[in-house]
Amino acid sequence: MSGFSRDASGRAVLAGTPLSELVESSGVGTPAYVYDLGAIANEARLMVEALSNPRHLVAYAVKANTAGSIVRRIAQTGAGADVVSRGELEVALGAGIRPDRIVMASVAKADHEIDAAIEAGIRAIHVESIEEIDRVAARAEASGKVAPISLRMNPGIDIDAHSHVATGHREAKFGIPLTELGAAWERADRKRSVKVVGLGAHVGSTLKSVDVYVASARSVCQVARDRLKSGKTLEFVDFGGGFQIDYGAGPVPRPAEFVAAARQLAEREGLGSMAIVVEPGRSLVGPHGVLVASVVQEKRTPTRRWAFLDAAMNDLIRPALYGARHRIEPIDRAPSEPSFYVAGPVCESADEFGEHPLGDPLPSRVVIRDAGAYGFTMASSYNGRPLPAEIFAEDGVVKHVSASPGRDAWVKARLQA
Ligand code: LLP
Repeated sequence: MSGFSRDASGRAVLAGTPLSELVESSGVGTPAYVYDLGAIANEARLMVEALSNPRHLVAYAVKANTAGSIVRRIAQTGAGADVVSRGELEVALGAGIRPDRIVMASVAKADHEIDAAIEAGIRAIHVESIEEIDRVAARAEASGKVAPISLRMNPGIDIDAHSHVATGHREAKFGIPLTELGAAWERADRKRSVKVVGLGAHVGSTLKSVDVYVASARSVCQVARDRLKSGKTLEFVDFGGGFQIDYGAGPVPRPAEFVAAARQLAEREGLGSMAIVVEPGRSLVGPHGVLVASVVQEKRTPTRRWAFLDAAMNDLIRPALYGARHRIEPIDRAPSEPSFYVAGPVCESADEFGEHPLGDPLPSRVVIRDAGAYGFTMASSYNGRPLPAEIFAEDGVVKHVSASPGRDAWVKARLQA
């Protein structure tokens, strides 16, 4: 399901209104991200419903999109947050997410981040190494508190995805290897300033198969069962996120299917009364955001026809970093041949978006689809290019605009550096 569609005259539509009108009425230029807040909230609601019981937790992976307008809407559905830094923690809290619905991961949390998590009273700090258990325990002891922790295990599972987004294989920096878990429990149980409340895993992103998610969940459930058998307590199991969306290569399982399968598994494994945590990021926001760009110029060479945009790898780095393909289409008419190689102005050969049917003559504006997740959050000012603007729409109108900080601000900051 995507909020993106085309009207009868072929114009791209988001949030019920032609995209070009949304951009026009927002008063900002391109490049600009445009999001459909209603569709995002709906996506989050479907996930919350898929877990039905309020003891479960949909922890939105805030790293996918940190915009306050978006995090607040997701929070209103009852979802919590999965954060990986103090900055994200403060955004989640500021957006109205209750601390007991926030979990925090990261292999190397700074002391001030551990302190902030303990101080806020979050649901659990995911610890990713035995060494980290000692660090969290020391910080908790210093503040006279008991820190709730959850062990993130590394189940040693390979996934069919780009190596940059695979996190559950044996060589990954993430999680505690299965062989070390016994020692980790022992270490944690000995510390008076930490309490183990959860156990989890996240094997990676862009998962196309429910089976691999279930394999990881099974591993978590088995370890959790053994833990319970040994007379210890555990409040939740966390199966992570990672659900792929349809970037144009064909349908993928719906996020709710992953969650339903994991939930059934937990029941079969005798963990039916335990709370389940899932951490979707991309699937909540990815399909409901686009990047609108202008065509700056065409270039013909003996081998290629290029369309150069005013958006580049600094605005959307996924193609350059993961070889990802995002569909690029004319904004006000349906895609058609001929196809063009699309690229941005950044001085890197990686600043290419692939070949796309933009038609002749080239449109003045294009839409880069499915860019709501890991688009703006990974943007940079490389090559002296200011961050893009963001437009938040709902029910056919622009609700909020976050303007680009602009070139002047960038120049001033660099001159002051
Ligand atoms: N939980 C943990 C522990 C994670 O590390 C991540 C993503 C998620 C949940 C959410 O995964 P999602 O549902 O969004 O796939 N920048 C890359 C993706 C990096 C994902 C990092 N961790 C991309 O653009 O594809």
